[in-house]
Amino acid sequence: MRVEGRSMRTIWREGEAVAIIDQTRLPHELVTRRLQSSEEVAEAIRTMRVRGAPLIGAAAAYGMALAAARDAARETLEKAAATLVASRPTAVNLRWAVTRVMRAILAVEEKERPALAMREAGEIVEEDVAINRAIGEHGMGLIAAVSREKGRPVEILTHCNAGWLATVDWGTALAPVYRAFDEGIAVHVWVAETRPRNQGAHLTAWELAEHGVPHTLVVDSAAGHLMREGLVDLAIVGTDRTTAEGDVANKIGTYMKALAARDNGVPFYVAAPSPSIDWELGSGALIPIERRDPREVTHIEGWSEEGRRLVVRLSPERCPAVNYAFDVTPARLVTGFITERGVSAASRAGLLALFPEHRESATREERC
Ligand code: MRU
Repeated sequence: MRVEGRSMRTIWREGEAVAIIDQTRLPHELVTRRLQSSEEVAEAIRTMRVRGAPLIGAAAAYGMALAAARDAARETLEKAAATLVASRPTAVNLRWAVTRVMRAILAVEEKERPALAMREAGEIVEEDVAINRAIGEHGMGLIAAVSREKGRPVEILTHCNAGWLATVDWGTALAPVYRAFDEGIAVHVWVAETRPRNQGAHLTAWELAEHGVPHTLVVDSAAGHLMREGLVDLAIVGTDRTTAEGDVANKIGTYMKALAARDNGVPFYVAAPSPSIDWELGSGALIPIERRDPREVTHIEGWSEEGRRLVVRLSPERCPAVNYAFDVTPARLVTGFITERGVSAASRAGLLALFPEHRESATREERC
């Protein structure tokens, strides 16, 4: 997508290393960073320099390639894979990407592994871009239909950052918005700030502004009010893990928006690229929910008027806090999934109609 008028992705190869946009520095500074080992990639995922389910998967794939470039022995690769998979628990793309690279490279001789790992990672990256572009096409149809019906800008609510910064390019939930905007369909995005880390305020607001898409920032708890006032036509969010039954783990606060959408008759769509579907899980209750440092709740980070990064405490000293990073929205509250193969009902049957090749794994007994 565009940054200061130039095309940019979130992750790219730079010689023997991999480069990323350090998302902990946005929106105040655009800083890139070179990662030279799988440990550095794992650190970047853990600390959320790279974040968002698809981008975490792409970064982890490159992490495996960097590990193989150093030492392609099976034990070393297994250790690197375990460290990467443990770096964040909820987004299933991480396990999916690491497993895919491991499966490919363990099937060949050691000396062939470094080149093959890099090739496989490169393919995962390009596939992510293609998947998101296709999600954009399918989702644009939904926006265009509302635009035709209402004859005014389409009001879209989103949560967290499921834009291009959460992927290699285009985004998932925001891909339809960018495609519609680029086609000349008038849109306006309500950006929920997304406490505690404020990915909406920091990242979504930044990337929409860079692309010139009209948007307004609101606090998370404003979503219900906006819907009651008739100010939201569609909600579109991302997903970190969608089960075969259609339950959705996404950034904490997604569930409450889905409840408000249902009560107000607002269509609630989840943009779901296939690598974020966990075909081995049925119930969303089995999805591991990441718990992060309570300091992200008791403190807040911002930028002073003098242009300095500041972290300030919000709560009384030593105030107990808990920091659930994700919640699960049950399939019954989801109007549909926007996937790279089209829009499906939020159910096992709906997903399998688009992805029949998963029929077998989706009906196997659930993993614990
Ligand atoms: O904790 P984050 O910032 O990695 O969480 C990101 C989200 O919850 C996104 O909505 C999700 O990954 C889907 S993004 C395409």
